Amino acid sequence: MINSAISFNPPRGMRDFYPEDMLLRNLIFDAWRTAAKNYGFSQYDACVVESLELLKRKAGEEITDQIYAFKDKSNRDLALRPEMTPTLARMIAAKQGSLTFPVKWFTIAQCFRYERTTRGRKREHYQLNLDIVGEPSILAEVEIIATAIKSMEAMGLEKSDIIIDFSSRALLSDILINLGIAEPEHAAAFVALDKRGKITDDAIRIILSEHGLTDDTTDKIFSALEIKSLSDVEKLVPKETESLKELLNFIDLLKAYDIDSCMNFNISVIRGLAYYTGIVFEAFDADRTLRAIFGGGRYDNLLSSIGGKPATAVGLGFGDVVIGELLNMKQNITIPKSQGGTAVGYMQQEQQNTAIQAANKLRADGVNTDLALTAEKAKKFFSRCNKAGFEEAVYIGPDDVDSNEIRIKNLSTREERIYSE
Ligand code: HAM
Repeated sequence: MINSAISFNPPRGMRDFYPEDMLLRNLIFDAWRTAAKNYGFSQYDACVVESLELLKRKAGEEITDQIYAFKDKSNRDLALRPEMTPTLARMIAAKQGSLTFPVKWFTIAQCFRYERTTRGRKREHYQLNLDIVGEPSILAEVEIIATAIKSMEAMGLEKSDIIIDFSSRALLSDILINLGIAEPEHAAAFVALDKRGKITDDAIRIILSEHGLTDDTTDKIFSALEIKSLSDVEKLVPKETESLKELLNFIDLLKAYDIDSCMNFNISVIRGLAYYTGIVFEAFDADRTLRAIFGGGRYDNLLSSIGGKPATAVGLGFGDVVIGELLNMKQNITIPKSQGGTAVGYMQQEQQNTAIQAANKLRADGVNTDLALTAEKAKKFFSRCNKAGFEEAVYIGPDDVDSNEIRIKNLSTREERIYSE
């Protein structure tokens, strides 16, 4: 028996999608799919349930603490994926010998994270993932970012609506080495530094001291993170440093794609995931009122860290929640209010067969058609059509039975025409 006190709400942080909610979701998903295919990405998918072992990392990342983990009836440790990247790495590793590289793959994956639910953050979200594996060229980063921008344009946004902060972990690594911090400590240092602003600097000092960094070194890192421009970076590392040259090359390529206007160098963009090794980036709305729209970067060690052969990779995750908020905020963007289509109704049971034939004809011609399941008065039929947001309607009365015509009415202009395919 169902408990009468059961809540009709979904569990906290999870969402239901009623038909009207699917309109915005489909607008976003369609734009993602169109742009990804337009830029040559192939679609893949995987099961939402992953083995916990693959997802757990030991670098102190927030995401590891947010995993929805459980045991199955055979005592296996499983989890709902919080992100797609480890699964992608597993899938590539499983077929590394037979795949042709670079692979350029995309997916729209539902991800689960036990987060504090705030504006822009749920416990479940869909994420477009764009990844290129097996390509060291920095052009891969630019293709990924350009695809994400293209998808936003397909939603009706403009480049001026967003700002994409970027930096380079490789560059920051070189700065850390110059400050005397050994490379094995860098991943943990990045994860700790990414928490800046979310926890106090003193709390970060404590985490970093556990990795052997003195307060004095930490202060030097903090002041390095105050750097505002690339020319200031040259004061910290020699001009010919590979990571710096790469970043300058990246900027040139952004210009070639005409997407440099929305890109902003910001050395303090580090990202909270430990696996990034190179250029990292994070997109925000231009007014910076919302949480991150998308984020990603190069991750050259993930495949080898899960036991695959080494492979270079770059990718991004683009969630549906924040972009949905941004689209809702934009006055100039029209989010469909209904899925449209044509409704067919009839006055009396005697006209049902004629209505079935009319609906069949429209459907055969590819017109999305809803057929009334019972006879109804004209007033009720048209008021139902308006509420449901149909674009056109056919209402069959006794006079229409013998005619071979389908009279179709446009519900916004009220104009009537004889249907012909
Ligand atoms: P991430 O920065 O953790 O990266 O997530 C990417 C995007 O997913 C965020 O910018 C945001 O749009 C969305 N997102 C994340 N968590 C939530 C949440 N709790 N609620 C709503 N939206 C959320 C990754 O997940 C990387 N695996 C991306 C990647 C792919 N890197 C390389 N390839």
